[in-house]
Amino acid sequence: MGERLVLSGKVAIVTGANTGIGLEIARGLAMHRARVVLACRSRERGQAALEELSADTCSDRLELELVDTSLTRSIREFAARVRARHARLDVLVNNAGVWRERREETAEGVELTFATNVLGYFTVTRELLPLLEATPHARIVNVASKMARRPRLDDLEHATRAYSGVDAYSESKGANRLLTWELDRRLDGKRVYANAVHPGMVASEITRADPQTGLLRRMSGPFFRVFGRSTRDGADTALWAATSADCEMSRGNFLERRKIARCKLRDERLERELWEACEARVAAIVAAT
Ligand SMILES: NC(=O)c1ccc[n+]([C@@H]2O[C@H](COP(=O)([O-])OP(=O)(O)OC[C@H]3O[C@@H](n4cnc5c(N)ncnc54)[C@H](OP(=O)(O)O)[C@@H]3O)[C@@H](O)[C@H]2O)c1
Repeated sequence: MGERLVLSGKVAIVTGANTGIGLEIARGLAMHRARVVLACRSRERGQAALEELSADTCSDRLELELVDTSLTRSIREFAARVRARHARLDVLVNNAGVWRERREETAEGVELTFATNVLGYFTVTRELLPLLEATPHARIVNVASKMARRPRLDDLEHATRAYSGVDAYSESKGANRLLTWELDRRLDGKRVYANAVHPGMVASEITRADPQTGLLRRMSGPFFRVFGRSTRDGADTALWAATSADCEMSRGNFLERRKIARCKLRDERLERELWEACEARVAAIVAAT
């Protein structure tokens, strides 16, 4: 099982904490006595999660903060509130993610899967880095996936090719890993430890139907429900990365079932160029708003 750290007095943030894997990660962190900030986009769903977790864990250290992680502006406002309210951040779990069957753009004009799964993780992390760096041995856990491909730098937002939900999702999850490796390089010498995790194939709401749901997605819901792991099992490795003493000094690793897994996507040049492309995209969004 491995020793777990007690997180009393420590602060953790989980994005997309109102359902699925994120809800279970937040539950586990609350059980370890952390102060847990549930970072959710819906007040109603976030409040329901907070009430469920406080009843189940008897924790009075749960907070709800609203954020739409597909929007740079919303993330910056959220991070400013967090920085004003907390002097430390011990654990950041970037988890909020989507899989869309048709190409959509956010109000900031960014393709939605890229905006949420890639720029969302990137911007939440960057905006909260001052707090993480001010906290000894802070950990960043990026919920990635084995369903991952190298992103195409010449078309990160799937604008110049026929849109495919599988491609957009897989490339976004590949980007999660590449950006974790680049972040780890940039954190070198600092006491902040970033890892990416694969939760397994999990029966969550990620396969929920949307009006444009295609055949593959309609079939994937029942398939995941029969063959997928529970959301609690899916949260296990992320929670382990966030709390285990075994994992304390792990950094820049791809973790699956509490072990280091090989990441075939490692490519220092692509990692750096992707980071720079994200920086430039966020700067353009900020300049336009
Ligand atoms: N399920 C799997 O088999 C699997 C496998 C590998 C990796 N993953 C990864 O695990 C993570 C969690 O997925 P899940 O399976 O638990 O999916 P889920 O049940 O659909 O939960 C996704 C969570 O993200 C939130 N979210 C989505 N867009 C958001 C936004 N713009 N702002 C704020 N929150 C937002 C959702 O909030 P709402 O309820 O408001 O929509 C929800 O809380 C994702 O990063 C996913 O890629 C999942």
